[in-house]
Amino acid sequence: MDSSPATIVIFGASGDLTSRKLIPALFNNHRKDRFNPDSRIVGFARRPMTDDEFRDKLYRFSRETLGRDCDSACWAKFSAMIHYCQGDLTQEADYQRLNARIEDLETNPGGGRLYYLAIAPELYPQAVDHLGAAGMASEQDGWRRVIIEKPFGRDLASAQALNRQVHASFDERQVYRIDHYLGKETVQNLLVFRFANSIFEPVWNRNYVDNVQITVGERVKVGDRAGYYDTAGVLRDMFQNHMMQVLALVAMEPPSKFEANALRDEKVKVLNAVRGRGAAGVEGYSVVGQYAGYHDESGVPEDSITPTYAALRVDIDNWRWQGVPFYLRSGKALAHKTTEIIIQFSSPPHLMFDTPDDGDLESNRLAITVQPNEGINLSFQTKVPDHGMMLRSSELEFLYSDSYDDGAIPDSYERLLLDAINGDASLFIRSDEIELAWRVMDPVITGWRDNAGDALPMYKPGTWGPVESDSFLKRQGRAWINDAANQQRKGRERSGTSERRECDPPGC
Ligand code: BG6
Repeated sequence: MDSSPATIVIFGASGDLTSRKLIPALFNNHRKDRFNPDSRIVGFARRPMTDDEFRDKLYRFSRETLGRDCDSACWAKFSAMIHYCQGDLTQEADYQRLNARIEDLETNPGGGRLYYLAIAPELYPQAVDHLGAAGMASEQDGWRRVIIEKPFGRDLASAQALNRQVHASFDERQVYRIDHYLGKETVQNLLVFRFANSIFEPVWNRNYVDNVQITVGERVKVGDRAGYYDTAGVLRDMFQNHMMQVLALVAMEPPSKFEANALRDEKVKVLNAVRGRGAAGVEGYSVVGQYAGYHDESGVPEDSITPTYAALRVDIDNWRWQGVPFYLRSGKALAHKTTEIIIQFSSPPHLMFDTPDDGDLESNRLAITVQPNEGINLSFQTKVPDHGMMLRSSELEFLYSDSYDDGAIPDSYERLLLDAINGDASLFIRSDEIELAWRVMDPVITGWRDNAGDALPMYKPGTWGPVESDSFLKRQGRAWINDAANQQRKGRERSGTSERRECDPPGC
């Protein structure tokens, strides 16, 4: 721990994000001695509450989230850092009051302040304006940073307008646009895997890779979030942010150092190189769908054509990736919760062995499982013993659970909050990045409507999406690889047993 005391101000302190994610993450950082214990956390929201009522509420939720890790002695020390200030986000005078309260609490003038906007997106502009007007963005007395949650805009134009608004009060270097996928250990491990090893990078290009698949599947349906979800849909909810970020990390060139701008410059180059299609050109490159029963969810209009599933082909026009399609898909109510990146390598140029009777030889495949069963799995061909030159796919596998204790993988917010406190913006999104991601997604969002009209392909909950998505890939001579690492693992368990039987000496 090397940070100086800071004040973390949470706007929207009575909401779910605060109690279920932010406070447990801050508590864990405190428990692990990762930020200065003289720091303060100030919650700001409309609901009247005393400091103690606020602390009690947060304790209940943190216990629920963290279980035994929410040790009461440790919580007692932590909760002394927590304060509450009642106020209305839309009233400038309330920011002055908040500022005065923070100044009272700050026994160490010159310390930094982190403002976390855990509020409805339509309130971002007012909040940043008022922070600016109240002089709370000024760095005369120490650093000031603001974390802004997704969604950052609804399209390119609104994201540009929001960036302008934010920049009227804060410099870009003070702005931390959060995407919790970048806080996932395994997403960060992608950088280590690619750039701290020398054997993968030489084959990470069009000469060896046939296609890349990025899947973020969820079993859950929209639940009680229909009010937000129905106006967003999967393309805004998952693609513009999480999927574009993962795509950029998979495809980017090696940055010269692990530093915010070096990293973000490389991601920007990838997003800039994504082939634009224009709304009309989207047909043939994307499929959307809606799960059966979506209209029965509470809060969903009965004629809603909001997509809950989408699949998209992205082409990156640069030397490394020319001709290599990146297939992205995500949806709710799918067969499994999984986030997986598959690098499907090309087949060998010539095969001197007979191919198996039951199909083509599988070419090498690298599966990076972001969640759950976090790990990396590389499949390759081996010879089946005592069966002539019969070939079989085998795997090399790394599983986090084999190498690290349970609970070794922290929640994304833990890492991201700490980085923001320490002023490291590497895992946050820069203004140009966010705008470029919208530039890629805007035509897809408007394009599918023109192509689908009023009829959206439907899919059964618990499947891998609409059949149209399978035919979309089939037309391109490819197929989705569903849950690759798990399937390989199951296959290995099955064939492991049968092989042992085959090898038993006759008569045993
Ligand atoms: C959020 C989306 O950003 O990410 C949710 O708004 C989605 O709809 C969630 O469920 C998925 O995150 P994770 O970490 O569970 O994969």
